[in-house]
This record gives sequence, structure tokens and C-alpha cells, in this order.
Amino acid sequence: MVKEHDFKKCNQAGFCKRNRQLADTAAESGSSWTSPYALSPDSISVKEGQVQATILKTINKYEETANLPITISFLESGVARVTVDEEVRQKKDIDLRHNSAARKERYNEVEHFAIVGGLALDKGAQVTSQDKLQMTVKFGPSHKHEAVIQFAPFSMDFKRDGQSQVKFNDRGLLNMDHWRPKVETVVDVKFEDEEDAQKPEGEPEIEKVKQEDESTWWDESFGGNTDTKPKGPESVGLDISFVGYDHVYGIPSHAGPLCLKETRGGEGNYAEPYRMYNSDVFEYILDSPMTLYGSIPYMQAHRKASTVGVFWLNAAETWVDIIKSKESRALGMGSKTSTQTHWISESGLLDVFVFLGPTPKDLSTKFSELTGTTAMPQEFSLGYHQCRWNYISDEDVKDVDRKMDKFKIPYDVIWLDIEFADDKMYFKYDENMFKDPIGMSKALDEHSRKVVLINDPHLKKKDGYYITDNAKSKDLLVHNKNNDVYEGHCWPGGSHWLDAFNPAAIEWWKEQFKYDKFIGSAPNQFTWNDMNEPSVFNGPETTMPKDNLHFENWEHRDVHNLNGMTFHNATYQALLSRKQGELQRPFVLTRSFYAGSQRYGAMWTGDNQAEWSHLGAALPMLLSQGISGFPFSGSDVGGFFGNPDKELQTRWYQGGAFYPFFRGHAHIDARRREPYLAGEPYTQIITEALRLRYSLLPSWYTAFHQAHVDGTPIIKPMFYTHPNEASGFKVDDQLFVGSTGLLHKPVVQEGQETVDIYIPDDEVYYDYFTYDIISTQKGKTTTLAAPLDKIPLLMRGGHIFPRRDTPRRSSGLMRFDDYTLVVSLANDGTAEGDLYVDDGESFDYEEGQYITRKFILDDNAITSVDAEGRDPKSIVPGEWMKAMHMVQVSKILVVGVPNSWTSKKEVEVESDGRTWTAPVDFVPAEKGRAAYAVIRGLGVRVGDDWAVKTT
Ligand code: NOJ
Repeated sequence: MVKEHDFKKCNQAGFCKRNRQLADTAAESGSSWTSPYALSPDSISVKEGQVQATILKTINKYEETANLPITISFLESGVARVTVDEEVRQKKDIDLRHNSAARKERYNEVEHFAIVGGLALDKGAQVTSQDKLQMTVKFGPSHKHEAVIQFAPFSMDFKRDGQSQVKFNDRGLLNMDHWRPKVETVVDVKFEDEEDAQKPEGEPEIEKVKQEDESTWWDESFGGNTDTKPKGPESVGLDISFVGYDHVYGIPSHAGPLCLKETRGGEGNYAEPYRMYNSDVFEYILDSPMTLYGSIPYMQAHRKASTVGVFWLNAAETWVDIIKSKESRALGMGSKTSTQTHWISESGLLDVFVFLGPTPKDLSTKFSELTGTTAMPQEFSLGYHQCRWNYISDEDVKDVDRKMDKFKIPYDVIWLDIEFADDKMYFKYDENMFKDPIGMSKALDEHSRKVVLINDPHLKKKDGYYITDNAKSKDLLVHNKNNDVYEGHCWPGGSHWLDAFNPAAIEWWKEQFKYDKFIGSAPNQFTWNDMNEPSVFNGPETTMPKDNLHFENWEHRDVHNLNGMTFHNATYQALLSRKQGELQRPFVLTRSFYAGSQRYGAMWTGDNQAEWSHLGAALPMLLSQGISGFPFSGSDVGGFFGNPDKELQTRWYQGGAFYPFFRGHAHIDARRREPYLAGEPYTQIITEALRLRYSLLPSWYTAFHQAHVDGTPIIKPMFYTHPNEASGFKVDDQLFVGSTGLLHKPVVQEGQETVDIYIPDDEVYYDYFTYDIISTQKGKTTTLAAPLDKIPLLMRGGHIFPRRDTPRRSSGLMRFDDYTLVVSLANDGTAEGDLYVDDGESFDYEEGQYITRKFILDDNAITSVDAEGRDPKSIVPGEWMKAMHMVQVSKILVVGVPNSWTSKKEVEVESDGRTWTAPVDFVPAEKGRAAYAVIRGLGVRVGDDWAVKTT
């Protein structure tokens, strides 16, 4: 079990405790509480979508103030951004203690790493009113959005269509610890309100104001480690209220429900705020606000028909308190719940983006404009990944490969964990165990399979190890507070850490991956970045000291949550440039992440356990990743620690077949558990689950493409697909795949042979395997039989999705297989769907080398047209496009066909100026099963326009 006490609670992190105390004081003081922050009206300047001013923070009873420059940016997208800095810290001449080399400013480079676009200012934003007390700015499309800036105390109210949605500092919890010099004399300060407050004889005069708790301003110890703070206290805090919103989601990663809980106690609530401080929390506990390996400080609030959100652009340790408040409305109108959140970071700027919706999809689009979308993956990475710690030799790898084939179990990738490396020196195969890595890679390539090798950010401290020596000599490693190369412990023993914040470190890292440099590497090898929080076994909270120094002397404290992403990026860049002219898409799995990591690859949820509870916990976590902009996510199938029994293993494969990233993995002490070892009936059932995944790969790939285009989640929770259906807002144990209408609910309990699946609408639902019409009621659950060999999977009426039905060993071998289209008729007899396909490995899609189809079924016909309305003649086909010319839609399965199809024996097909007929097998409805028809031998090219007449 994770040692909970190895990780801080809020009251063990000085800044969190102080800010939470502020919240308590404000709440206790009620209406007599006044926030000491006021925007000076004289300082306001407005130009082209931006308001600039100074906030004055009153810091003592003499009305002295600290100057906090504020910039409010109104973006073309309708998003608003509020950035507050601190004037004095921007100056070069302030004193730091200990002559520390640390930078003096508040850290202001998160944007540089996280944001890639969407910052164009809305030049049409307009100040519509301004007086001594406040100003109002209208912005966004059709000026629907409005920000009311109140000057004293400073607060902001963000409205949509005249209604308040998001408020800043409504509760008066804004806090920016202003810079102050350290007074070294320790004086026993008495409080002003203490009766015996008297100046002791001979002591210097000291201010008798109520003192703050200074005990953690300059030093702080935890678990035997002392953090020195040369910059003193510099936390930022703000209350953000979502007016009228009773559900909030996001801020992954936490092992808890998708819909976030309240955090200030009470039955069923957490007593701690949600924490974001990327950490190696192995064997993590479930249903907890404890931090995990990665952080995306982006939250969305949802109520019927409206979604809004905030993105807290800060990479320091961050805590978020959530409480809900009920406010009674006018007589007979019931009550209105609002969610009040309190964001607290240890350092950095106060920098917050506000999204005003109104749909979950609007938020995905806007958030991905800012932080980027999912990198278009190689198609193989959507297949099944076989991993364990460890496959111990190249012979072992080839043996697993042969056995998977022998049992006809499809898979795409086999993984090598840390034992592949000579003495944990990555970039060096253990030559005794891996005698011929190139031969191994070639053998895998025969069936279009790949290998992924681990590569961690710690570099073994060993004289003569070229990688470390070279990185050290070029000064590319993280420094300690004394500005020497930092040393800590990880898998290799004494280690140093690559500083991927340094652009020169990235350039150098790229060199190490070149085929001629990394002996044994090959084009079908890809990379796994683990331990990049970073994990340091002997460090505070298993990570690096906060007073360590990175590139340009930024303290680790300021950048901690970005650390994993910078390393992930370095590896992504490295795989891009292994060989000049080789332009294949990288695949890099990361454990640690931040907003923007989706641009570099996939993530997984770390070290879970082979227990039913962990199987259940996985899906809410993955759904949360999806709505938070990083949908290429998975959990270790089978559970990392421990040994799953066969039933659990089987159920996990069935559920895993619906994870965007689908990998089986096991700890070094766990027994071998490759699917063929399970024995019958388990091996066969697992194989069926894998084949289901493989047959649906065209649909998964299409969903990934959508995520790549506009940030849409790949698997979607009910609130996302049905934002007006309140009964589904808390449902997080089932999912829709892309826009296929496929609704899946995994079995996550031992011995369970049924599932109660929630139905979010009035549409018809069919069983995926039997075409039975499911008896449903909108907003209620319906019970489905789910014996061990059955995956609960429904087809929602109204969709068309692509499939490839011939089982093969790997996705690469299915590349030019024909397609089947599955049509599930809606209540009104219509259906539509999409297909996106490209070569699955190169960047040629950026040059138009892809096929994208829109399928529509209406009363008369099923048609396929280019989804983007492109003229096929405008695309000069490359090699892959030419090969695709032979690929057909060979079969259409139509589920839920009307009786008028009874006598249909054939349909007329039209394409490319020709018409012909294709035979139809009609199967009438029977005992609850829908009527269906199979159109065979269609003979239409997948890339061409075509129509199948059904009348
Ligand atoms: C920790 C990772 O979470 C786990 O997946 C991996 O097997 C071990 N490190 C060893 O590399």
C-alpha cells in the first residue's frame, strides 16, 4: 500500500495551510470580511482586447501596498484570461537569502511550454460601461460574453447572455504573498489583541500588528527533508465560484469519481483538497484526492444545458478545495446549488483562463486551441500492447511472439522494461540477454509488429558511462540549490537528471536516439518515458527537492508539474529525428504529464493493483483524461501489482478493449500472465475481446482523428454526449466510443453476470452481438446479461461505423483489408457516421493523403461522400492512396431495417458513373431481435463516392 504519510496533507504544506486558514477566517468573519485587493481605476489602460491595470494589495495597517500588475485578455475564441504578477519581484535588484542563484521573478514560463495557440486577442472587445466602481467589457462571438470588473475589493464576474457564470474573488480569498525581505532577528512578537502586549525593555520597536504564520515562509521540513525558500513566501490563491453549477469535473489525475467531490468534510466528502503535485504514488489508494503522476489544472462546471470552465496555468504544487452552496430561490422555486472552488499554488503567476461554453464540446475545442490536440498516433499504437517487467532476453521476446501467433492472439507491440538495459544504463542493451536486438526487431517486423523500450530521465552516475559523462560535460543536468549537479537515487542507484527545460538538452537527447548512436535500435522501436515526475527514491515525497535549479536558474518548485512534459517532449522530438528523411510519427508513452502533453503521445495511470476495485477505478480516471484534453490514455490491464485470478484478468481485457491505450502490464514479482497462459475458456474469451478491438480499429482511428482535429474525447462520458440529461451527470462507469454510438459498460465486480447500463435518451438501442432490441427508458438503467464470455456493448440507433472483419495477427497486416459498415437505424429510420483513414504511420496526411467519408442513410439510400467535400481529382495520390484504390466497402450490415425490406433480394449500387446490383440477405425480426439485412459483395471503393439505393 502507498504510505499515505509519505505525502503531504494540506496542513503539512505551509502555503496550503495558510491559504486554507484565510478561507476559514473569511468564512468566520462573514460580511465583515474585506479582501485587501483593490484595482486602481487610475491605472487602467485598454487596448485591442486587453485591459491592463494595477491591483494594490494593502499589506499593513499603515495602508502600505504591494503593486500587482494585472492583464485581462479577451481572446477571439471568447475565452478570457486574467494574469496577475508582482511588480517588486520583476526587479532584478531585490535581495534573496543565501546568495541563492535562483531567479527572483515569479515564474512566468508555463505558457511557453503549455500553450500553442488560441491567444489572438478579440479586437472587437468593448468597454460598455465604466464608472468609479467598476467596468464592463463585452467580448467573444456576438458579444455574448461579458466581464464585470469590480475595483474595490477587486473581483470579476464572467457572464454569458447576461447571466453570471464564473466569479473570481467573490469570497475574498484572492491572495498573492507579496515579496518581503527576511528579518533575521527572531523576536517574540506579541499579537495586538493580546492583553499584555507591551514593548519589552531594551528590545527594538516592532510592529504590533496581527502576525501571519511565518513558520514556513523561509524553510519547511517534511519527512526529514528541509526545503529552503530563497524567495520567501510567494503563494497565489483565488476563489472561483461557478454560479448555479452543481457538478464539476476535471483536474486529473486522481483516483476517484469523474464528478469531483466536495473537500471540506461531511459525509461522503473528502477532508483534503484535491492535490496536484506530480508524484510516484505507487499502489495508490482509491477514492482519494491525493495527487498522482500527472496534473492538468483544468476544471469544467456543468449544469443542464451549460458547461463553463477554468484553466489555472500554474506548474507549482497546487491544491483545490471544492464546496457546494445551496441558495434558496424565490418562494416555490426550490434552491440553486453553486460550486465554490479555491485554488492554491505555491508560487508563480496567477494566470487563469475562463471558458464560457455553453457545451462540453465547445470547451474541448477551446481548451485544445490553447494547449494543442492529441498527436495523430501511429495506427499500431491503437492495437494491443503486451508488456511486463520484464521480458528478459531477445529469445524471450521471440518466444512470446511465437506463442501469441500459435494461439492466434492479435497484438501489435511487445515492451521492454528497465531490465533490458545494461546496469540500468538506458541506450545500452544488456548484451548477455539481448544478443541480437536488431534481429529481434526484424523478427517482430515480419508481422508488422513493434517494440517499445523504456527510457527514464535519470542517468546512472558512473564514470565512463558516455551518456552521463557527456550530458554532465555539456551542463545539461539539473542542479541542486548550491548550483552543483544534483544527485539522487533511482533504479540505477546514484543518478543525475536530464534537464529537459534546457533547449540544448533536447538537442543533445535527439542525438542519442539516432540509429547509429543507439546501438540495437531500429525503426520499429518506440519509447516509454517512466519516472518523469521525476521520481527520486531518496527525495522529499519521492521527488526532487523544490530548491533544485533548472535551466536559467528557475527553482524546481516553480516548474515541478511541467517536468514530466518537458521530458516527454524531448523524447518525442528525438523519435522525430532518428534519421534524416524518415518521417514516421513518434510513439511515446509517458507517466507524468501536464496540460499539453497530449501533443506528444499517450499516458497510463501508473501502478495500479490486480484487484477488482482497481479495474472499477480505471474508467472514471480515463474519462477524466478525455474531457481534460489528454484522451490517449489507458490503465495497466490485469493490474500492475499482484496476480489477478483468471476471471479478473478476463474482465480486465474486456474492459481494456475500450481503453484508448490498451496495454497489459505486470510487476517483476507478478507471475507471467500472457493471455495464452490463462487456459480455456479464458484464453479464448480474451482473444475474442482482442479481436473485437481489432475489428473496430477503423472506428477507433476515426475517433482518434477527431481528437486530433479538435480535442474531442475518444471515449465519452454521459454528461458529455448528453449535456441536457441531468440523470447522467454522475455516471462514470460506462462510455461511448467516439461518435459510433457504441455504448459499453465494463463488468468490474467478481462473479457478476449482469450489468445495469444507464440509457441517456429515447433512441433505440441494439445489442452489438445479437441485434436484440433492448428495452429501455430514458434516464434509467436497464439490465443486460453479461456472462463471462459477453462484453456488455450496445449500438445506439442512428449511427454508422466502420469495421474490418478479417482477424489477423496485427493491425499492420489489416492495412489494406476491405471494410464492413455497420448501420444501426434510429427510431426515425436514419443513420449517419464517419470514417477517417490514412497510412497510419507517416505525416503524409498533412498533405491531403487521407480518406475521410461521411456515410448517410435516409429513406432512399445509403451514401458515402467526402466528409470535407474535397474534389478527389484535386488530390494527387501517393503510394498509400494508390494502394487504397483497391480497398472496398465489401459489406454493409443494417440493423433495425423495416419490414419493407422483406422482399428485398438485391440493391442497386451506383458509383463512378456506373450502376450494378448487390445481393441482400434479409433476416426478419424474431423474439426481441431486430430485423437486419446484410448487403454483400458491394464492390465499392472506400475512397469513392457511392450510393446504395434502398427503395
Ligand atoms: C514504474 C512504472 O510505473 C512501472 O510500470 C514500471 O514497470 C516500473 N517503474 C519499472 O520500470
